[in-house]
Amino acid sequence: MSDIFSFKGASGAGWSQPGPILGESEARNSIPEGIVRSSLPDWPRASEPEIVRHYTWLSNRNFGIDSGFYPLGSCTMKHNPRLNERIVQLPGIDRIHPLQPESHIQGLLCIFFEMQEMLAECSGMDSVTLQPVAGAQGEFAAIRCIQEYHRSNGEGHRDKVIVPDSAHGTNPASASMCGYDIIEIPSAEGGRLDLDALRAAVGDDTAAMMVTNPSTLGLFEVEITEAASIVHEAGGQMYYDGANFNAILGKTDPGLMGFDAVHYNLHKTFSQPHGGGGPGSGPIGVRAHLSRFLPTPVAARREISTDDAEGIGDGFWYFWQDVGSDSIGKVQQWHGNAGAVVRAWAFYRRYGKELELMSEHAVLNSNYLRHLIMNPDAETSGRIHCMPSEGAEADFVMHEFTLSMAPLKELNGVTGKDVAKRLLDYGYMSPTLYFPQIVPECLMIEPTETESKEVLDKFATDFHAVLSEDPETVISAPHTTPVKRVDEVWAARKLVLRHPGTGFED
Ligand SMILES: Cc1ncc(COP(=O)(O)O)c(C=O)c1O
Repeated sequence: MSDIFSFKGASGAGWSQPGPILGESEARNSIPEGIVRSSLPDWPRASEPEIVRHYTWLSNRNFGIDSGFYPLGSCTMKHNPRLNERIVQLPGIDRIHPLQPESHIQGLLCIFFEMQEMLAECSGMDSVTLQPVAGAQGEFAAIRCIQEYHRSNGEGHRDKVIVPDSAHGTNPASASMCGYDIIEIPSAEGGRLDLDALRAAVGDDTAAMMVTNPSTLGLFEVEITEAASIVHEAGGQMYYDGANFNAILGKTDPGLMGFDAVHYNLHKTFSQPHGGGGPGSGPIGVRAHLSRFLPTPVAARREISTDDAEGIGDGFWYFWQDVGSDSIGKVQQWHGNAGAVVRAWAFYRRYGKELELMSEHAVLNSNYLRHLIMNPDAETSGRIHCMPSEGAEADFVMHEFTLSMAPLKELNGVTGKDVAKRLLDYGYMSPTLYFPQIVPECLMIEPTETESKEVLDKFATDFHAVLSEDPETVISAPHTTPVKRVDEVWAARKLVLRHPGTGFED
């Protein structure tokens, strides 16, 4: 398949069904005179089948959760049930506009309201907004709420946010965008929170602490309520990074752990894998004392009489409610990423009260795969370390786990990155690489609940095959992908965002 930008057939060349509603002259007449083109742009001209082939070819060059196992730790890349797609394409959802009157969008508003309620319940929070469209944006919005809360109490001098060294990079970045200084505290020996380090870090300048639980090492922070007390006693607020919610849903919740604010990654926990950057949804939930600062508006409802013709028939009228003058304002145009919210709603409604099964299977799969990979009888077992390698943590993790490839590197020079790249040749997405940074030569694996035992067995076998391969084969991998290794520094510094030859390079 050659590149579509070189297709320069005559206008209208190739097969296409007869034109739609407007003919060329009618279409022209419907456009104001001053903005009608005088000449055709130098765009590619291709027939419908050529365009379909182009996009199919492009999609085959990509790797996604529908192509194979995607064990990307921390990113929860799980199967996206096709029912979600059918629901989001229903005309009452797919064909509406955010500016339509509330009477036209009662169904969508009802879904938004139910989603807010469900998220509040499963996280132990009092109010939720669905407005942020990514986890990182949720972090920013919730930290801003905390900031306004401190200011409203005359405590605006609190200018430090504490994060553990295992934190996801977006945590310090979001706090820093709000103007906070970051204090990073080291993890304790076994990889968990170090309470002594926390005690030493808090003070009357502490605005908040941001924690992921389970942490990015796949460890549940068993002393989290103690940590929350330390921060609260110092006058700070506790922020829960909910990206790892998949491990605890229905089992426990951040409210019980002592958190004041949380973000959820709907695009992870509630299916809709988002690798590649979107689209996503990062709602936030807060305890009552922070509710008045939430981004505005939120979905709300009031009872109506059953014979009111305009409601959707469940006895309620759904509407957008202004949060009030203390709100941090809007963080997104319109009301957030409605499609992602609807898919997440469809996903959780199907589980219903059995949502905790999801977390149980996610944790089971993670532990099963970890034990297969760390099998002490495997010939290659000495080439990897599990992290942490000692204590109770060595036996049990939550929904994801980290491995260190440092022994392999020492043995024959093969790095974590080489192993990750070689796995691509075996038909897998590579695990998360070199994160968290506290694990040397780190690979972070999250199988999720949607993978079968057979897939995990095969992955473990293939993983060990890579470990025993001739180092040269691994170091020069990948061998089968359309693009081989890229120069990451060059790719990041010299972005090419437009296809060459389109006339829009600059
Ligand atoms: C632990 C953790 N926190 C926050 C985020 C940020 O979420 P998003 O990618 O939706 O901005 C991620 C994303 O991978 C994450 O893994």
